[in-house]
Amino acid sequence: MTSSGLSAPIDASEAHPARRYDYWLGGKDNFAADRESGDAIEKIYPHIRTSARQNRMFLRRVVRYLVEEAGIRQFLDVGTGLPAAGNTHQVAQGIAPQCRIVYVDNDPLVMVHARALLTGCAEGRTAYIEADLREPQAILADETLTGTLDLAQPIAVLLVAVLHFLPDDSAAGAAVKILVDAMAPGSYLVVSHATDGLMDHGIIETLSDGGHVGKTDTTLRSKAGVAAFFDGLTMVDPGLQIVSEWRPETDRPPTEQVSVYGGAAYK
Ligand SMILES: C[S@@+](CC[C@H](N)C(=O)[O-])C[C@H]1O[C@@H](n2cnc3c(N)ncnc32)[C@H](O)[C@@H]1O
Repeated sequence: MTSSGLSAPIDASEAHPARRYDYWLGGKDNFAADRESGDAIEKIYPHIRTSARQNRMFLRRVVRYLVEEAGIRQFLDVGTGLPAAGNTHQVAQGIAPQCRIVYVDNDPLVMVHARALLTGCAEGRTAYIEADLREPQAILADETLTGTLDLAQPIAVLLVAVLHFLPDDSAAGAAVKILVDAMAPGSYLVVSHATDGLMDHGIIETLSDGGHVGKTDTTLRSKAGVAAFFDGLTMVDPGLQIVSEWRPETDRPPTEQVSVYGGAAYK
């Protein structure tokens, strides 16, 4: 641990996913390296901000669906991100104040903001764990989690725009399986994931050439690759979709401008 109580110091010299995503969403919690990396990616893929915004809107809609229609009251949100409009606990507790949320992120800056800003309402609980999705057993065994969520009851595991930071297919699949195996029947898994499925071939080639954009650190997966994370579960209608097409409520951009698949499924 560092003197600040964090497991790792905050590194402003290299782009970090949470801060770069914050930049694309129009937030202020980012450094020059994040903006440079964000701009470089936007130059190659001009719809990246649209994709980020639509992913965030998907998160809000899916949490509302889970609370209002599926009756879920417990959430494990891995890959929290920096606070932005419509954080999971705000949407969930805004509908059912007794909702309990455990946030997990491996970025120390996210944890600083989470502790300061993501405070829940009195009837429910909001807790945070600094941990890595690549070590799901540690997340499940963490006392903060076991003291906040009852894993014998249904929960929703949210993996929203985080699995594409795990490049190895089998490691990513194994992490999801461990979390799904820990879910009680009636629980839900939500995944959203960056895809190259609808991208122009030239864009894919340039994006995958790290030399052009600095460290991209994002693994784009096909629709089938993303669908594999839901193996053994029952998809909620309308299945795995480009996130803007998942139970849309407003006008939305053409799907070619939204390079993220999303869906929800139950056990
Ligand atoms: C693009 S943001 C998504 C934020 C939020 N889920 C959303 O969709 O609006 C991705 C988040 O995942 C976190 N992250 C990336 N890799 C991770 C890992 N291996 N374990 C835990 N968190 C991770 C990043 O720090 C960042 O906060």
